Amino acid sequence: MGLQWGDEGKGKASAYISRGAGLTVRFNGGANAGHTVSVGDKSFSLHMIPAGAVSSRAAALGPGVYLDLEALFRDLEQLEQSLGRIELVVSPRAHLVLDLHKELDKSLELLRSGERIGTTLRGIGPAAMHKYARLGLRLCDILEEDAASLSAARLWRSLWVGLLSRVEEAWLNRLRELAEGVKGFVGDVGGRIERELSSGGKVVFEGAQGTMLDIDHGTYPYVTSSHTVAASASTGSGIGIKAISRVIGVAKSYTTRVGAGPFPTELHSPIADELRRRGGEYGATTGRPRRIGWLDAVQLRYACRLNSVDEIFLTRVDTLSGLPAVKVCLRYDGVGEGFPETVSSLRRVMPIYREMPGWPPIGDELRERLRREGYGALPREARRFVELVEEELGVPVRYIGIGPGVEDVVEK
Ligand code: IMP
Repeated sequence: MGLQWGDEGKGKASAYISRGAGLTVRFNGGANAGHTVSVGDKSFSLHMIPAGAVSSRAAALGPGVYLDLEALFRDLEQLEQSLGRIELVVSPRAHLVLDLHKELDKSLELLRSGERIGTTLRGIGPAAMHKYARLGLRLCDILEEDAASLSAARLWRSLWVGLLSRVEEAWLNRLRELAEGVKGFVGDVGGRIERELSSGGKVVFEGAQGTMLDIDHGTYPYVTSSHTVAASASTGSGIGIKAISRVIGVAKSYTTRVGAGPFPTELHSPIADELRRRGGEYGATTGRPRRIGWLDAVQLRYACRLNSVDEIFLTRVDTLSGLPAVKVCLRYDGVGEGFPETVSSLRRVMPIYREMPGWPPIGDELRERLRREGYGALPREARRFVELVEEELGVPVRYIGIGPGVEDVVEK
């Protein structure tokens, strides 16, 4: 699970954790997610298929996913061109994201004017509106259309014609065509997970977005339209909570946010530009420059509680290297326990920082040594940083990202 505002490096973390797994599952979000993962000299940017599938070679998309069929086929083609066949199971209960949703996303952002959320414009909010208003169209509805006399698709269409007077036959036909293409992959995701687990296999649930973008627990209204906390792995895939034995929270060594909304530790200084340049901090879905700030222990403590995090995967310790000093926000001045609820209160908080010495650059040579020798070869100042994170969050850091590749991980 991502512990910040998304883009923590979950793609790479999941690909690492999914080694030896029999299945990797996506259960929330939609093509608003952009998971980048590098394997050897190949780099993939995936939007619907979980990035862990590059390791497990088996992917499932649960009913909690907002399904963009065009994006799904693009991902599948990208993966199969380089890696050969992968197993794919798509839940028939997943709600479809349509072109109309993308148009509505754009219109709603324009209407919000100065209060724009900065959505990815992938139609997620409007698809969620229809899902929860019980006007949504699911994959199974479109596949079943010919079978039922008053099919959900037709009912849905007539409702939409009434509401918006703009549902055209052409796109419904296009949708049927896409649905035909996915027919061979449709299956019972919960059942597939259960089979994998009962045969002793490992299943990885790969969260999309980040905890602070959760519809209930995040910085509302600057959030996405999914649950992005660990409990959603269960509801979004169709398996009980007891099937989940371990929660790994992914946190970047600094914080980024793409889109609008409060960001207490945001930096407006050349350090932000430097980190953005080094880390290639541009949105994987929209290409927008990411906002950059220091690590925020107040925000992360809240995220650890929401997710019942067992261990942390701390990414990008290499990107943060080579600075004279780094800062970590330990508390917000005058704010007691808990995380401020409103946008205005969050905009007012004053972060109190601990400044620590930076560590020497982690380049190819040191990375090579780290792969051979492990945690002990990490510069002393970087180890101190990792230990401060553990102390502040009360959760062990088990994995440390030291480069973009799947193998660029040190275990502590
Ligand atoms: P939406 O999910 O496209 O509706 O966008 C809502 C907010 O979530 C915006 O601030 C987006 O930038 C942000 N967001 C959505 N998906 C991601 C992601 O995968 N990474 C980072 N931010 C995201």
